[in-house]
Amino acid sequence: MNNFEFRNPTKIIFGKDKIANLATEIPANAKILMLYGGGSIKSNGIYDQVKQALAAFEVIEFGGIPANPEYAVLMNALEQIKTQKITFLLAVGGGSVIDGTKFLSAAAEYDGEIPWDILTGRKPILKGMPFGTVLTLPATGSEMNSGFVLTRKETKEKLASGGPALYPQFSILDPQVVRSIPQKQIANGLADAFTHVLEQYMTYPNHALLQDRFAESILQTLVEVAPAILKDPSDYDAASDFMWSCTMALNGLIGEGVPQDWAVHMMGHELTALFGIDHARTLAIIAPSHYRYNLESKKEKLAQYAERIWNVKNGTLDEKAKAGIDKTEEFFHSLGIKTRLSEYTEDYSGTAEMVSKRFTERGWLGLGERQQVTPADAAKIVEMSY
Ligand code: NZQ
Ligand code: ZN
Repeated sequence: MNNFEFRNPTKIIFGKDKIANLATEIPANAKILMLYGGGSIKSNGIYDQVKQALAAFEVIEFGGIPANPEYAVLMNALEQIKTQKITFLLAVGGGSVIDGTKFLSAAAEYDGEIPWDILTGRKPILKGMPFGTVLTLPATGSEMNSGFVLTRKETKEKLASGGPALYPQFSILDPQVVRSIPQKQIANGLADAFTHVLEQYMTYPNHALLQDRFAESILQTLVEVAPAILKDPSDYDAASDFMWSCTMALNGLIGEGVPQDWAVHMMGHELTALFGIDHARTLAIIAPSHYRYNLESKKEKLAQYAERIWNVKNGTLDEKAKAGIDKTEEFFHSLGIKTRLSEYTEDYSGTAEMVSKRFTERGWLGLGERQQVTPADAAKIVEMSY
């Protein structure tokens, strides 16, 4: 196991009707900007619950943050934060609203002139306005980590940033919110969380037995709970396991002491930036090709995964590793998620070269756990995903 330091300051408030606890978590004199997305919270009752809990506070609202949060939209929110002298941000939404709020937290305290530099500067964010979240969609883990991803339509870019100042102060996780989530988004949540675990697990053996088993337990739970939550999103027990698995998949714990990959996400973000494909679906497109292409360097962990998650007992190491990849692809299909780029767009020719060119321009010359994925490799992997 590698050396590590671990600190996660986010307070999790988990359970039925916990949105009512909001008032006790926010400083009494706070002037709040409540941020939300396209309006699902107004039809499913979450908006009313939040407003009721915050009745004693001065609350200004900013709605309309789109999926894959957009820089230009958030710049309007930043204006409000400044003119209204906001002191606390409250995200009510999924990963997009929470990520947008993280950007605003950083931008509100940013010394430079162009807030987009927060994303291109590649410096950890050390200052931010305090914020909390009410999670409405289990998927990204953003409710308990310090990273965020922003999109800029103008340049068709999608970039990630983050830093120790960007952990939410608290996150409220009420599994009842899952009731109103469309099947497509539940499938996305399952696939995204599953891939978050894979990115921190599918590397090489590192004598980290407990970390491996933490990771495997999340994968097993997601596989077990997927049919139940897809069938009935109001199944509270299934929703609880689904929600907590998604949070645990990316709150830092399982990634400590072990090598991490994240090349699937980096390539996936390009597909969202270029074609607007849902984040989780881009991962399902890239992951199988990425593992096939890097079979040699990942086969021990792939075989262990095949044995422990999918009960593949027979065959050589190579055969088990390949079976593990096939099972992963089948799992995505079982969620109703297609795994080829050509199934999402007809306009895919040239994508591989575009991704490779962008990685080169950004100086991303070696992604993956051994920096083994060069821009030329990324092009081959993306092409295998057509
Ligand atoms: O906008 P509204 O109307 O609220 O509708 C949303 C949106 O259309 C809807 N929704 C959310 N909660 C709902 C609901 N509909 C009914 N009932 C509810 N309770 O779901 C749609 C998708 O929401 P979004 O927030 O975009 O989804 P998700 O949570 O999957 O977030 C995706 C974003 O997070 C980033 C992705 O790149 C993408 O931009 N990620 C963030 C990460 C992080 N911060 O750690 C890691 C991830 O790898 C990921 O990159
Ligand atoms: Zn993800």
